[in-house]
Amino acid sequence: MAKKYVVAIDQGTTSTRCMVFDAKGLPVCSQQMEHAQIYPKPGWVEHDALEIWSRTQDVIRGALEKGRIAPDEIASIGITNQRETTVVWEKATGKPIYNAIVWQCMRTQDFCGEWQRTPGWQQTASGEGKVKDHTGLLISPYFSGTKIKWILDNVPGARERAAKGEILFGNIDTWVIWNLTGGPNGGVHVTDVSNASRTLLMNIKTLQWDQEMMKFLDVPAAMLPAIKPSSFVYGHTKADGPFGAAIPVAGDLGDQQAALFGQACFGKGDAKNTYGTGSFLLLNIGEDPVLSKNGLLTTAGYSLQEGKCTYALEGSIAITGAAVQWLRDNLRLFDEAPDSEYFARKVEDSGGIYFVPAFSGLYAPYWDMEARGAIVGLTRYIRKEHLIRATLESICYQTRDVVEAMNKDSGVPLAELKVDGGAVKNDLLMQMQADILGTKVVRPEVNETTALGAAYAAGLATGFWKSTDELTDHWAEDRRFDPLLAADKRAERYKGWQKAVTKAKGWID
Ligand code: G3P
Repeated sequence: MAKKYVVAIDQGTTSTRCMVFDAKGLPVCSQQMEHAQIYPKPGWVEHDALEIWSRTQDVIRGALEKGRIAPDEIASIGITNQRETTVVWEKATGKPIYNAIVWQCMRTQDFCGEWQRTPGWQQTASGEGKVKDHTGLLISPYFSGTKIKWILDNVPGARERAAKGEILFGNIDTWVIWNLTGGPNGGVHVTDVSNASRTLLMNIKTLQWDQEMMKFLDVPAAMLPAIKPSSFVYGHTKADGPFGAAIPVAGDLGDQQAALFGQACFGKGDAKNTYGTGSFLLLNIGEDPVLSKNGLLTTAGYSLQEGKCTYALEGSIAITGAAVQWLRDNLRLFDEAPDSEYFARKVEDSGGIYFVPAFSGLYAPYWDMEARGAIVGLTRYIRKEHLIRATLESICYQTRDVVEAMNKDSGVPLAELKVDGGAVKNDLLMQMQADILGTKVVRPEVNETTALGAAYAAGLATGFWKSTDELTDHWAEDRRFDPLLAADKRAERYKGWQKAVTKAKGWID
């Protein structure tokens, strides 16, 4: 039967989604399910990897049923995932030896502090040093490397078993692909360059596992997956699995890189910002892995061919949408996240307050893991609407912080910003973003660009789509937001934000 669809599985921090796309790159049907967030101690975050695999199977079955999609109509499957989250499991049984340690988890903070003091490994405040030279990253509990080390140090016998190849490591992409392609019965143990570049273990220039990093973190080579391009036939699904047939698994991208791909940011200088739990702004920098001098990460964007890679500079912001969820769940200021727009519109401005949602430290460009959340400038005049508005503004100010760093690194001011993710439906937020940046903000028609990017990678690998030019033709604008705020107001408000950030920094010592 002629192939009509490509399927994307988007395994995110809070939920898992399966989306089916047609040949024009338009969504046909989807199914989504949440999974439990496990907080064993303050600052620790875990997921149950078996629950994630179970939800993955449920959403696949649900989406295919909803859209009445037959397996033989599917050309290929792409995976995209929350990055850095670390799973370590037994090869023979498929049983994780510990819960998945989530990217936001700060349990290795003390180790990272010691690491930074180790002769030869010191780094500057903006993260320049040996780790950046090798990996494009910096010393932080955010990435997988210290999480793997923690599991091997804390689960008895794990390191010895890992060295013998009995225990495997993977980020969520690897875990899902291994299970889809057979699990203990011949599952393929792979990852792609975009995910591998978030582990602290891949050399950013050679795109191979880095011996020096592996030695320092004491991670045995036998447990690491093979690094492949992002668009590549890794293996096939099993007939007794959720697809009920053998279909090529042919795309793998970390979610932020997938959004870059789905936004058709194929040219050097193209940038996108995705608004999810956090926000991640990526700028395509071409085939040369230029290192940031201003607190950004250099990351593998995507690879369409073995040994080749398009790189990106990344500004990672840990908490943006999660701050809105916090207002909803912890302060109970509204019932649904989109209601934040309704309340924020009830006031003209935030009444002079700033909210710095540094719940798990501040990521780019500050990299201050000792920072904690702060609301400053409070007077009795302030009502809940002001706080809600200040929360939306914090998303935009944090984005400005990384755009400032990017402009310094590239020497060219960003011309326009493509946006995506659930929160971009909020018109007020998008207008605020344009106002605070002083730059055009452009929203595409399909804002589910993360799943779309994974589908694109999978479709290219199997000839469903012929070239990235064809994908660029799919991209269509929904709406453009021009900056309306006067330049002096913009400068004054941003100055207030920068002052607020200084109050949140270094809170715990
Ligand atoms: O680096 C973390 C990022 O990949 C998580 O994205 O959308 O699952 O919060 P999201």
